Amino acid sequence: MKVVAIVGSIRKESYNRKLAEYVRDRYQDRFELEILSLRELPFYDQDVENEPIAAVRDFKSKVAEADAVLWVIPEYNGTIPGVLGNAIDWMSRIDRVLLGKPSWIMGASMGNLGTVKAQMSLRSTLFALQSPLLPGNEVYVGAVHEKIDAAGNLTHEPTVKFLDSVVDNFIAWYNRLPR
Ligand code: FNR
Repeated sequence: MKVVAIVGSIRKESYNRKLAEYVRDRYQDRFELEILSLRELPFYDQDVENEPIAAVRDFKSKVAEADAVLWVIPEYNGTIPGVLGNAIDWMSRIDRVLLGKPSWIMGASMGNLGTVKAQMSLRSTLFALQSPLLPGNEVYVGAVHEKIDAAGNLTHEPTVKFLDSVVDNFIAWYNRLPR
């Protein structure tokens, strides 16, 4: 199975990016994970949506070709970051690459609630875009700065165990989806 990870932060030391890299490495025998960057995407512009620049076309193609999307997102001001909303706007139009695309969500924040509000917002957006979402299995990594070491290892054992179960549940759910 080929999964793309859409990380909702473009900063170099992003905890969410580190979490995505950890998932990619720990579960490499379960699925292939390619982490996409939002950095090259320009502002969504309806005037050019039919013929966007190559960065947009490449990004959308990677999502279109993937079997599933893993969203790994921070929370900004109680909702999803603007860079992520921008990417979703591109994906929501013309070839609508999220339509029917299986999704699952994780999020890490330095606050205790671990992106609860951002994930609620993303969930309702995915519902509108008709991207089937893994039910339950809500991964909220709060106080992430205390759970990931400098090398990017998740050092919080309960979180690692929970991730193991979420990965099992995701794969079982994916295999049950009608094709
Ligand atoms: C934040 N942060 C934050 N955290 C949170 O739990 N709830 C929130 O609403 C916000 N709001 C917010 C807004 C802005 C503009 C910034 C820059 C930060 C803190 C956030 O959890 C922290 O910066 C994470 O490290 C962001 O994720 P990455 O970039 O490390 O992946």
